[in-house]
This record gives sequence, C-alpha cells and structure tokens, in this order.
Amino acid sequence: MTNFSSNDFRSALSSFATGVTIITARDLNDDPIGMTASSFNSVSMEPPLVLWSIAKSALSSPSFTNATFFSVHVLASDQSEISNKFAIKGEDKFSNINWHEDQNRVPIISDVSSRFDCKTHDIHDGGDHWIIVGKVLNLENSSKQGLVFSQGSYATTSTIKPKQHSGSNVDTGASLIDELLIYQLARASRQVETLFHKTVEEEGLTIPEWRILASLYGKVSRNLVDLCARTFVDPSAITDVLSQMNNDNLCVLAGEGSSMLITGTESGMKRVAHLFNMAKNQENEILTNMNEQERLSLLRNLENVISNTNN
Ligand SMILES: Cc1cc2nc3c(=O)[nH]c(=O)nc-3n(C[C@H](O)[C@H](O)[C@H](O)COP(=O)(O)O)c2cc1C
Repeated sequence: MTNFSSNDFRSALSSFATGVTIITARDLNDDPIGMTASSFNSVSMEPPLVLWSIAKSALSSPSFTNATFFSVHVLASDQSEISNKFAIKGEDKFSNINWHEDQNRVPIISDVSSRFDCKTHDIHDGGDHWIIVGKVLNLENSSKQGLVFSQGSYATTSTIKPKQHSGSNVDTGASLIDELLIYQLARASRQVETLFHKTVEEEGLTIPEWRILASLYGKVSRNLVDLCARTFVDPSAITDVLSQMNNDNLCVLAGEGSSMLITGTESGMKRVAHLFNMAKNQENEILTNMNEQERLSLLRNLENVISNTNN
C-alpha cells in the first residue's frame, strides 16, 4: 500500500528530464515496428549494455520481447514530430519518414543525434513493464543536439556547451581558454563595457567623467588615490579631467596632490543618476536568465575577486 496516487507518481517522475528515443525492430510478421521511449538508459561499459522498458500493454510489446535485434535512436532537437508520431498506437509509423534497414533488417531512422544498434541481452519483469537490456553491437554519433522531454513538454539542450571530443578534429567552438575564469572575466567586462560606453557617449559624457561621477554617486567624497583605483583613469591625466569637471560644475575639489578630496555636485549627481538607471536596465537585459539570488552571488564573487587582487 502506498500513500500516493499513480497520478502523483507520474507527475513526480515527469520532473526527471530525459532524452527521447525511438526504438525500432521487426515484429513477429517481419514488418518494421517502432515506438517512442524515454526510459532508455546506460547500464554497463564492459560489456556495453543499455536498457529501456516497454509497457506490457503496448501493441508492440510481444514483438519487442521476441526480437533478436533492435536499434535505439536518440532523437535530435528538431525531431519532436517524429517522437509524437511513434507515440501513437496503431499509427502507420514509418510512412513519410526517412528510413532504411541495416544488415539485421532493423529499421534505421535518419538524421538522429545518435544511435545504438543492439542485440537483445536480457529481459526482466518490471511490474507493468518489461525491462529490455541490449548489448550494443554498433553505434553512430553525430554532433546534433538532443531532444529533451521534461514535465510533459519537449525542450532542447541548446544551453549545454558541446564538449570537445579528445582526438577529434571537429571544431565545437570551445577551447581551453574558455575554462579560464580570468579570461571569461576580461571578455565579459570588455563586452559589457563596449555596450554601455555607447550610451555614456550619447549622454554627452566622456568615459573618465562617467566613471568618476559613478564612483562619487551616493553623496560620497573620495580621495584621489581611491578614485584612480576605481575609475582606471591614468593618474597622470586624472587631475586635468577633474579640474575640467570642476569647471563644468560636475564636482568640487578640496586640497591638493594625493590627499585631494573630490565630491560630486548636485548637477553632477543628476547626470549620473540618469545614466545609473540606464546601466541598471542594461544589466537586467544582460542578466535576463539570472534570478536575484544568482545575481547577488555573482556580485559577491566579483567583489571577492576584486579584493583578492587589490594591491
Ligand atoms: C516522450 C515519450 C516517451 C515515452 N516513453 C515510453 C517508454 O519508455 N516506454 C513505453 O512503454 N512507452 C513510452 N511512451 C509511450 C509509447 O510511445 C506509446 O504508448 C506507443 O504508442 C506504444 O506503441 P504501440 O502500442 O503502438 O506499440 C512514451 C511516449 C512519449 C511521448
């Protein structure tokens, strides 16, 4: 006796995202058969074994449990229509699709992501399903993205970066430097900066002026050394920039040399407030797939990198 209904069980299982396969074989009359199955999984590396399970109620169940050979086709991300076709009972499943037969007369469907040609190794009783274990005799693997099935809907693996196969000449676009945090930080910074600098220039400020005003935003005063570190403005050029900003009533300067204290004026803060909102909007667009918790975690981690490299 269980404390959940079969609907609860099905619903909870559907949160486990899977790939989608079509399993094909010949039926008892030697006609081609096939069905959509997401129960496919790997079992053993040596010998190479895979499994899938078929409902005992499926029309093709007696044929699959008697077949000597079968093929598992892992569907590509653009093959959800074929998946639906092979999930309909009694449908003429092989009409209007590209297929041929292999040397064991198993139907082979074209353009899939990968394929495992199997010999039936074992069949186990699994409640209302048969668990069919196959020994893999041959496989084909393309670089196509696989189709995903989760919570009753199809999805794609487009956000998953393909891994470079060792010894392969195929260029998947990824390289070793992509794993280097320092490189990704520099690249992200450069790209974000380029985007926003256009906005700054359109608002009639230079980049050093924007950086200085942004560092003074929130009614803080900063000394020259701190300001140089925050704005990356060349120390030999910053005093000229500051005296021009002082003339333009964007900031006021007190004292001289490295102990100079710089404070934003009201009109300087107004200019920067507008740009600050624009920066925030741009940030929201860039981080569109990130929730607030992830954004804060990224922010804290970046602050850590900055403080650990501050000399
Ligand atoms: C995404 C998806 C995954 C499926 N996975 C399985 C499975 O692993 N085992 C199974 O018996 N049926 C599965 N089905 C249902 C069968 O494809 C469906 O019942 C099919 O019509 C059975 O074929 P037949 O009765 O014509 O032999 C799945 C259906 C879909 C849409």
